Amino acid sequence: MTEDFPIVSGVCELRQSVAAFRKAGMRVGLVPTMGALHDGHLSLLHEAKKRADRVIVSIFVNPTQFAPNEDYDSYPRTLNADADKIAETGAADLIFAPSAREMYPTNFATGILVGGPARGLESDHRPHFFAGVAVIVAKLLIAATPDVAVFGEKDYQQLLVVRRLTADLGLPVEIVGAPILRDADGLAMSSRNVYLSQAEHAVAVRMNAVLKQTGDSLRRGTAIVEAEADGKRALLDAGFQSVDYVAVRDAATLGALETLDRPARLLAAAKIGRTRLIDNMAV
Ligand code: PAJ
Repeated sequence: MTEDFPIVSGVCELRQSVAAFRKAGMRVGLVPTMGALHDGHLSLLHEAKKRADRVIVSIFVNPTQFAPNEDYDSYPRTLNADADKIAETGAADLIFAPSAREMYPTNFATGILVGGPARGLESDHRPHFFAGVAVIVAKLLIAATPDVAVFGEKDYQQLLVVRRLTADLGLPVEIVGAPILRDADGLAMSSRNVYLSQAEHAVAVRMNAVLKQTGDSLRRGTAIVEAEADGKRALLDAGFQSVDYVAVRDAATLGALETLDRPARLLAAAKIGRTRLIDNMAV
């Protein structure tokens, strides 16, 4: 099946394909990914297909969003299997799988600094992360010029950063957020779940349970600071080695909240062994 599915690796070829779609009057959708696709990613293709006639999936493990001590080298790269999965959905039309050199030519020297929702949370623990995401997402949007691009709420802060970035740069694209897909046991699907041993997996599934308990506690009137501290303790009790944050924030801006007087988001990040997991939910 893979041989039949169109894959392009150059920005020029991508632009030619998009120009042909546009000439035929079609709306174009983009789903940016780093590959190692699971059903969570594939659900984004279906969301995109509802809103566009042609859907492009980008697969690129973006080096600039990994710190030197992170898993860039070992990040799973499974292009053939990904292409099969994409073809099976029937919801996508083209894969864009560039090389690192294609996206970052020699002497590449441009950065994009996003403030607002990029401040705090992930940035406190991965300070390089949103600078890398902002550059690659901007480059993908400029290369593919989609009408609509779909991002998962799994990376809720990333979704808000991408919304801010596209609004601030005036990129003419609609950013759509898609719900988190979970395994039956509640664990949010993630390419990094493959790193978990069986024992670690049993701990990992507790993250969603703790978020649910914390959300319930907040709705019963527990103060935000107290609920955050309880949530953190519950993750450590469940077996997480360290907790980067359990935080309740304004759902639209990720600004701090004193009370639940507007839509809020509960977000958490914690480590089991070498694996760092994130999850979030509406409160
Ligand atoms: P990646 O981790 O591959 O995720 C690609 C997209 O899939 C993101 O929008 C992410 O939020 C979404 N996703 C992942 N797991 C999901 C789940 N369980 N349910 C719903 N959506 C899910 O996020 C990135 O890649 C990169 O940072 C990228 C935006 C591609 C820039 O390099």
